[in-house]
Amino acid sequence: MIGLLKGKSVNLRVLEKEDLPPVTEWANNPEFSGEYEPLEQVSLQEAEKWYCNLRPDEKWFIIERKDGSKIGQIFHSPRGPHFVIGYKLLPDERNRGYCTEAVKIIVDYLFLSKNIVRIQAETNPRNRASQRVLEKAGFKREGLIRRSIFIKGKWEDGVQYSILREEWKEPKILTKIASQ
Ligand SMILES: CC(C)(COP(=O)(O)OP(=O)(O)OC[C@H]1O[C@@H](n2cnc3c(N)ncnc32)[C@H](O)[C@@H]1OP(=O)(O)O)[C@@H](O)C(=O)NCCC(=O)NCCS
Repeated sequence: MIGLLKGKSVNLRVLEKEDLPPVTEWANNPEFSGEYEPLEQVSLQEAEKWYCNLRPDEKWFIIERKDGSKIGQIFHSPRGPHFVIGYKLLPDERNRGYCTEAVKIIVDYLFLSKNIVRIQAETNPRNRASQRVLEKAGFKREGLIRRSIFIKGKWEDGVQYSILREEWKEPKILTKIASQ
């Protein structure tokens, strides 16, 4: 299997072109984006163009349950010398710990595969579920970013979180990455 990071309840599989139809459908569903993310409407053609223009170090993964069903997405992307992550889960699959595990996997993967000291994530101050995910995965709250994102007609503040390599210390899930 190409590009598969294995966890206990979920795997992260590198997004392939064949995944674009369901992923585009998700992107166009306001319930998938949730209350605190920008409202998007994209065509499949636009999604294909976006996919072809991804930067080499920007990687999107499908979050899959162990039975192979697709339940969400998570990405990492370079931000200066650091990396930023973001994630979304299908509404019916939320509150079962899946996203927290996906974040732990991507953090293990980034610190194991790249010579970086810091991974960051930004969320809406009202998005308690996302903040809880980051806290459970070992991120620390850094502060408020004023008027950072345009959501449903108005500019909203963001909250920045990060995890440093010295806080991560060692892999939490991908202990056997070399053999996966
Ligand atoms: C944010 C999101 C990815 C979380 O995924 P998930 O798989 O449900 O996350 P987990 O189950 O691992 O953890 C969720 C935690 O938030 C808590 N939570 C959920 N809703 C909450 C709320 N309204 N207030 C406080 N805590 C809440 C859960 O109880 C759980 O914490 P616990 O384990 O201590 O009980 C999901 O809600 C989602 O896709 N939201 C829409 C898109 C989005 O906002 N993405 C993040 C952008 S920064």
